[in-house]
Amino acid sequence: MKINSIILENFRNYRSLELDFDADRNIIVGENAQGKTNLIEAIYLTAFARSFRAVNSAELVMFGKDSARVSTDIKSEDIDKNINIIIRSDGKKMIKKDGKLIRRTTELLNNVVVVLFSPDDLRIIKDSPDRRRSFINREISQMRPAYYEVLRRYSDVLRQKNALLKSCMHSDGSRQYNDEMLDIFDSQLADSGYEIIRFRREFTEMLSAEAADIMNNISGGREKLLIEYRTGCDFITSPEGREILYSQFRHNRDRDMRNGYATLGPHRDDLEFYINGKDAKKYGSQGQQRTIALSLKLAEIRIARLLLDESPVLLLDDVLSELDLDRQRFLVNEIEDVQLFITSAEPNAEVIKELRGGTLFRVEEGNITRVSKY
Ligand SMILES: Nc1ncnc2c1ncn2[C@@H]1O[C@H](COP(=O)(O)OP(=O)(O)OP(=O)(O)O)[C@@H](O)[C@H]1O
Ligand SMILES: [Mg+2]
Repeated sequence: MKINSIILENFRNYRSLELDFDADRNIIVGENAQGKTNLIEAIYLTAFARSFRAVNSAELVMFGKDSARVSTDIKSEDIDKNINIIIRSDGKKMIKKDGKLIRRTTELLNNVVVVLFSPDDLRIIKDSPDRRRSFINREISQMRPAYYEVLRRYSDVLRQKNALLKSCMHSDGSRQYNDEMLDIFDSQLADSGYEIIRFRREFTEMLSAEAADIMNNISGGREKLLIEYRTGCDFITSPEGREILYSQFRHNRDRDMRNGYATLGPHRDDLEFYINGKDAKKYGSQGQQRTIALSLKLAEIRIARLLLDESPVLLLDDVLSELDLDRQRFLVNEIEDVQLFITSAEPNAEVIKELRGGTLFRVEEGNITRVSKY
């Protein structure tokens, strides 16, 4: 997959930009607050229909403007495609693929698969479970749009169930429950929850195998990584699996009622990381935790290649300087055939030298100029 070119209009600090990219390596250099991450964000938007940092899409529209536009020419499965996204200042979006309106995010998802690596990702092991869940949710959704659909269904019902549980708790301490309604919700949550856990288990196994191999290479065989999906649910992959989940949700109802929200389900699950059998969250050094984060990103690239038969696009936002030279080199070598976008305030000259055959761009106040091909 390749991003051939991009047009930005009133997107963040870009008033008007038209840029052709290098098919292999794009190094984007600029001082702070010039627009490096904004460009990465625009590419990411093309893949996911949402930003990785803006809570509300309205933030993406240039201050004082009515709307923003991001139009991207991409090539995937050997076909040229155009994704055109208009964002209004009220946050509403309109997405077209080759001029035709796209109504559901799932139709966008695997047109272009991107792997984003930013300094935030280096904290994934230490961060809250929520971060790790959104990581797997995003990755599986990109490669398995059907997953995105079940996830959406699950979240909808979960929201309704939580609202009901909350409304059952009266201010005088008394409670009144609509058991029939809760049965319906739990049954629907068991349907989609079962699918979610199945997808996540399968993905975690792939992730663990690939990331362990990478970690093994980086550490010269000293560090054995294992990743496990930890669920609070009684889960078995079998035709009865869904029934078992449903009855567990029902047995858990008292606890849900006491708490006033759904206390059990994939929305409470987590990923666990072990190095040489020890929990990396508790015992891993900062360096080891960073190496795991790097291994995860590189594993994502391998998994995308396996599942889609194509290399994804890699976006490295300001992350090279966070890695030591050995890890930078390792990364650069692992990604030979991937189209790459790297941003940096001060790129390391040695690493740039190893990224042979790329184009250097300079960003200044929402303008980008091509500096050189090298
Ligand atoms: N909606 C918006 N309209 C106009 N300008 C915006 C908008 N949102 C952000 N900006 C501007 O974009 C700039 C930040 O851009 P960006 O985050 O891409 O910087 P950067 O080059 O990645 O910097 P750093 O090296 O610090 O990460 C800031 O000057 C900010 O004021
Ligand atoms: Mg930035």
